[in-house]
Amino acid sequence: MITEITAQDLNTGQFIEEQTEEIKSIVGNGRAINALSGGVDSSTVTLLGHRALGEKLRTVFIENGLMREGEPEWVVKLFHTLGVKVELVDARKEFLSALEGLTDPEEKREAITQTFYKNVFGRLVRESGAKHLLQGTILTDVDETVAGIKRQHNVFEQLGIDPQKAFGYKIIEPLIQLRKDGVRRVGKGLGLPEELFARIPFPGPALCARVIGAVTPERIETVRRATAIVERMLQGSRAFQYMAILHEDRVTGMREGKRDFGQQIEIRCWESVDARTATPTRLPFDTLETLAREIIQGVPGIVSVTYNIAPKPPSTIEAV
Ligand code: XMP
Repeated sequence: MITEITAQDLNTGQFIEEQTEEIKSIVGNGRAINALSGGVDSSTVTLLGHRALGEKLRTVFIENGLMREGEPEWVVKLFHTLGVKVELVDARKEFLSALEGLTDPEEKREAITQTFYKNVFGRLVRESGAKHLLQGTILTDVDETVAGIKRQHNVFEQLGIDPQKAFGYKIIEPLIQLRKDGVRRVGKGLGLPEELFARIPFPGPALCARVIGAVTPERIETVRRATAIVERMLQGSRAFQYMAILHEDRVTGMREGKRDFGQQIEIRCWESVDARTATPTRLPFDTLETLAREIIQGVPGIVSVTYNIAPKPPSTIEAV
């Protein structure tokens, strides 16, 4: 059982001190490695790990081909200004070929898990001699995985999987007692800039979680373009999270007087405190209309744009 630390009960300074000491004592004179995606959790863990381990921690950004527009370069640069060196590892081919032919949500998640932990990390860990992987799993990830709702890509021990046996290294999870609101406070306490600690959540499986059905480079590019529009338009909304989702089925549309059997984008925008429950934001209709117009104009092949109005539960935040 993991004991939850709620954001209200969290003493940020004490938490940072304790976790820093804990990481130091586990890693000792060894080396550790961590993957930074630029999300709130992995950014917070990166700073915590560097505070504890300094040069003994190697931080990599895995370019899996599923990231948002300009994300890898933006994250590497931003951490550079924070004094943290981040290596960019190009693993696009590996991820895209592992996803080829898969349409089932859990199979896609499993393919990403295996590629990330076994192949890409297995190799990096062997090369670097690291014995530990530091990662930003939070309590909500564990809850939903254990409940069998959604297998979060980063949960193992609670499912009876020993990472040491399965992948050859140990995993350290300093944020596991926290939820998103607590992590933001720790990130802030560690000196993360607001553009990182206040960032909307983004899932580990990245844009793969936003493509219903087959994941191809073309379909990822479609959702990537729609995501950029939705994020730009809704960044002032103060919502918990917002996203674009590419649907699997096509619908009949028309363009220049001709039939266009096109693709559909669903927009979601959520009010939530900790992602356990969520309700759709009451966006002004004008905003929705502008979003639809920009997506139709800016994303080739889209003939339908919808807005989700069902709460979580029974929806979940991501569609996949
Ligand atoms: P759901 O879709 O389960 O999402 O309601 C709850 C929160 O978790 C994020 N999410 C994930 N994060 N790995 C992650 O690191 C995952 O596999 C994953 N799936 C969902 C989601 O964006 C939301 O904030």
